[in-house]
Amino acid sequence: MQTQVAIIGAGPAGLMLAHLLHLAGIESVVLEARSREYVESRVRAGVLEQGTVNLLNTTGLGERMRRVGLLHHGIELAFAGKRHRIDMQALTGDAVTVYAQHEVVKDLIQARTLSGGEIIFDAANVGIHGIDGNSPVVRFEKDGSLQELHCTYIAGCDGFHGICRPSVPKGVLTTYERIYPFAWLGILADAAPSQDELVYMNHDRGFALFSMRSPKVTRLYLQCDPDDDIKNWSDDRIWDELLLRFRCKDGWLPNVGKITQKSITPMRSFVTEPMQYGRLFLAGDAVHIVPPTGAKGMNLAVADVRVLAQALAENFETGSKTLLDRYSEICLRRIWKAQRFSWWMTSILHKFPEANPFDQRRQMAELDYVTSSQVASQSLAENYVGLPMDVPDRWSN
Ligand code: APR
Ligand code: PHB
Repeated sequence: MQTQVAIIGAGPAGLMLAHLLHLAGIESVVLEARSREYVESRVRAGVLEQGTVNLLNTTGLGERMRRVGLLHHGIELAFAGKRHRIDMQALTGDAVTVYAQHEVVKDLIQARTLSGGEIIFDAANVGIHGIDGNSPVVRFEKDGSLQELHCTYIAGCDGFHGICRPSVPKGVLTTYERIYPFAWLGILADAAPSQDELVYMNHDRGFALFSMRSPKVTRLYLQCDPDDDIKNWSDDRIWDELLLRFRCKDGWLPNVGKITQKSITPMRSFVTEPMQYGRLFLAGDAVHIVPPTGAKGMNLAVADVRVLAQALAENFETGSKTLLDRYSEICLRRIWKAQRFSWWMTSILHKFPEANPFDQRRQMAELDYVTSSQVASQSLAENYVGLPMDVPDRWSN
């Protein structure tokens, strides 16, 4: 098999890259370790920055998102039992859209299928070879037989546990990492959201987040121990804890309903630099992870491949490598700002086991400041709706 770009991983990064390349007239093949059903139902986060929404719209993927996505003009930060609204629309002119990541993945797979593009699901033992030469090759097994995919470039979009990042020779990449002393327990519940904006709650017992998926489904998270096991959390225990943490002085609470999904996710900040080596370009969770408090994960993955698609298109169209050589540098500048924001949101909202009374008072002062100062809330809002892309591209509107 032969293609122009071999894409490893059918998450938002890999699928969006395939879509943008297709629009630019560039051929690619997507290789995915899991089944279509698995990637289409994997429960993940679901906040789309304005720029991500615009990209889905301008590239013909926005129909279902516009119909069932939930437009949010503000968020709430709650502490000391009181809720405070950050009016993102008034502060920035922009908003975010709540639309689950696996719905974006479904839309991308459908677009790929309609355009006749290839996605090979259930690809086993994927390995990448020759990335430092001129003719890289991907070897994998499909239905028990060994296959080879020859290509000009490889895009490593295979997430944090993928094989692409570890295929770069030792000593080339530098990793920057912080592991947090807590995790998030997340649930989906058959309960109508009791209000229509997100609530980020700082509570003495730990952080909690109120979100939603539809007019009938609430999404909730609570800070838990990183070594905790979901088996320790009966549905009753989860609701007891959520209702304790969310109880506000004005009496607001989430509605309770049947829990249909629950899981625990560890929290880390992680960046690997550079994002390219030879003919391999890494994107999305394969090179950076943010704690979910800033709602940036999927948006960063999409932003990376937007730069990569533009750079690959320029290279295939004109032979120029100018943008391709700068891929990593362009992306990292914005990624680090999203890292900073995600770390900061995490630091003001969570209970840190090592925090002393000074740290606790300082955290309250920070929340008080950010919710009472117009410039401080504007800074939060500007980051939350998404910083501009550093280099305009053919999909900018
Ligand atoms: N071969 C082929 N595919 C692989 C391999 C492999 N060896 N290893 C992993 N994959 C696949 C995974 O099954 C997954 O479908 O790569 C895909 C990576 O997708 P994501 O993990 O969704 O990563 P990405 O596309 O970068 O999107 C980032 O996902 O984890 C969230 O919060 C994160 O929202 C962010 C988004
Ligand atoms: C979600 O709805 O899953 C969600 C929302 C906001 C976040 C993280 C996750 O910061």
